Amino acid sequence: MLRTHTCGELRLENVGESVTVCGWVDSWRDHGGLVFIDLRDRYGLTQVVFNPDEGAEMHELARTLRNEFVIQATGQVVKRPDGMINEDIETGTIDVKATSLELLNKSLTPPFEPGTSDLPNEELRLKHRFVDLRRPTLQKALILRHEITKSIRDYFDENGFLDIETPIMGRSTPEGARDYLVPSRVHEGCFYALPQSPQIFKQILMVAGFDRYMQVARCFRDEDLRADRQPEFTQIDVEMAFVERDDILGVIDGLIARLVKDVRGVNVSLPLPRFTHADVMERFGSDKPDMRFDMELVDVGGIAAECDFGVFKNTIGGGGRVRGLNAKGAAEKYSRKMIDELTAYVGEYGAKGLAFFRVQEGKLDSPIAKFFSEEHQKALIEKLGGEPGDLLFFVADKEAVTSAALANLRNRLGKELELYDPMEINACWVIDFPLVSWNEDEQRWDAEHHPFCYPVNEDIPLLESDPDKVRAQSYDLVCNGYEAGSGSVRIHDPAVQQTVFDLLGISADEAERRFGFLLEALRYGAPPHAGIALGLDRWVMLMCGDDNIRDVIAFPKTQKAADLLSGAPSTVDERQLKELHIKIDVPEET
Ligand code: AMO
Ligand code: AMP
Repeated sequence: MLRTHTCGELRLENVGESVTVCGWVDSWRDHGGLVFIDLRDRYGLTQVVFNPDEGAEMHELARTLRNEFVIQATGQVVKRPDGMINEDIETGTIDVKATSLELLNKSLTPPFEPGTSDLPNEELRLKHRFVDLRRPTLQKALILRHEITKSIRDYFDENGFLDIETPIMGRSTPEGARDYLVPSRVHEGCFYALPQSPQIFKQILMVAGFDRYMQVARCFRDEDLRADRQPEFTQIDVEMAFVERDDILGVIDGLIARLVKDVRGVNVSLPLPRFTHADVMERFGSDKPDMRFDMELVDVGGIAAECDFGVFKNTIGGGGRVRGLNAKGAAEKYSRKMIDELTAYVGEYGAKGLAFFRVQEGKLDSPIAKFFSEEHQKALIEKLGGEPGDLLFFVADKEAVTSAALANLRNRLGKELELYDPMEINACWVIDFPLVSWNEDEQRWDAEHHPFCYPVNEDIPLLESDPDKVRAQSYDLVCNGYEAGSGSVRIHDPAVQQTVFDLLGISADEAERRFGFLLEALRYGAPPHAGIALGLDRWVMLMCGDDNIRDVIAFPKTQKAADLLSGAPSTVDERQLKELHIKIDVPEET
């Protein structure tokens, strides 16, 4: 070993010991006489002091050290003089007084310094990820990721789950995003698809008798990327046989409690709260509500129908809805200009406007208050629990627009008004999702989760008459406003499966072509089974209190699915294409 201690290890107890430390130069100060180096590794920082009296040659070498040079220093641990103690670092009470120095490697001038908080844009950081990953924040995130994954694996192991790997090169899976394809050289003109999830294989494992399966599974989806989405991400994938919905919820409740306890040392009270999809859509306008704060949506359709404000009245007349929320105590915090910004923001979610009222004693203040009688103003205040100083917002539109606009407004206000502790972990279940939703563009029913979700038994008769009323035995694990997991009870009965395929317009041919191998397996004694997958990256992000998924992945991709470090994707040799019988036909304008 080239070192006796790490850079995070030495304390007052070590004073007097002779030690060797290795690491990167985080910063250097040359005071003419003494040279001070803050030496960094993933464990911390240690200050090493080079004194010319300990060796002129060593001191001269120390003077040439620059940021990110890699060194090995041997010396004695000494107590820092009283005024020099640094409370901010754990080794801040000691110095290493160097007696020898080895320059292990030089570094080019780094594009940015990992030790400073003054960061360049993300593009530059991703390109030089090897420097970026030296930053303590990213190091902490990856260490936490390791701890979380370990805690999860331990939990499933202790509960009798088997970790079984499923193929990366396979057939297209049913999660509904675009596939990443891999051409086959041997089978000319044929392609593998990278798995969007191990869904079908894990169901087949249930048929095969592995009744408790888990996998830390890499998934690949070619879809539009956002701050919480990567084209390549990791699921904690779980499936169980001979279980019902509540068994899965119970196992995952236990997992979350274990995880939060292991990582945060906090007790989570179980069971995690459960809300129906219909309930959260009404109260929060979202199927992934942030439950760290209240500010529920309120329907004011009754008042809107009677008032003199045309927009409200006509919306109700046309079958739409008027809903609002109360930003408590925010009347003075939001200027007219800021409200204009909020209006533009809800516009991104389809809202054609944002009505607002400042609550005063028994009345409302707003450019549109004149359209509301004294009685209607009082009624609005009462409905939204308004008190003087509150700020009320309303959106009038089709139900879906009011939901999307107000849910996003709620999230934004919650953050801006600091209504929650960013480090709190607040998880709940959303259950009873609709089985299908109507795809207006393509004029057909789409599976809300995937085509293998079991409908709620009592709703099965509605499959033919009222498909949109059929609930699925599916569930989402929601945490701090993110979909942090999703799963369902699967269909193991071929007749029910057929009915659902019929509803989704998946013909027998298509079903056979896309999922034939699963359907075949289901005909050979499939046990009742159910499962779930948690988004590991999202959980790590939540546990870090971060909102950028790229910060918890060692080598993430950009919003445009590029790996800036390695330069993927890239063109390939003509020879490789030839072997694969592939011709490139890129339209001119790209
Ligand atoms: P689903 O598609 O909902 O379900 O995915 C499960 C969970 O994975 C996470 N997730 C993502 N995380 C980062 N980037 C992405 N692009 C991304 N897509 C999804 C989310 C999500 O809740 N086979 C089913 C699960 C099952 O039914 O058992 C599935 O994949 O946290
Ligand atoms: P206008 O009549 O368009 O000048 O709008 C008057 C006020 O009503 C403005 O504050 C708008 O933001 C608001 N408003 C307009 N359309 C809507 C709507 N669909 N929902 C809520 N408020 C609206």
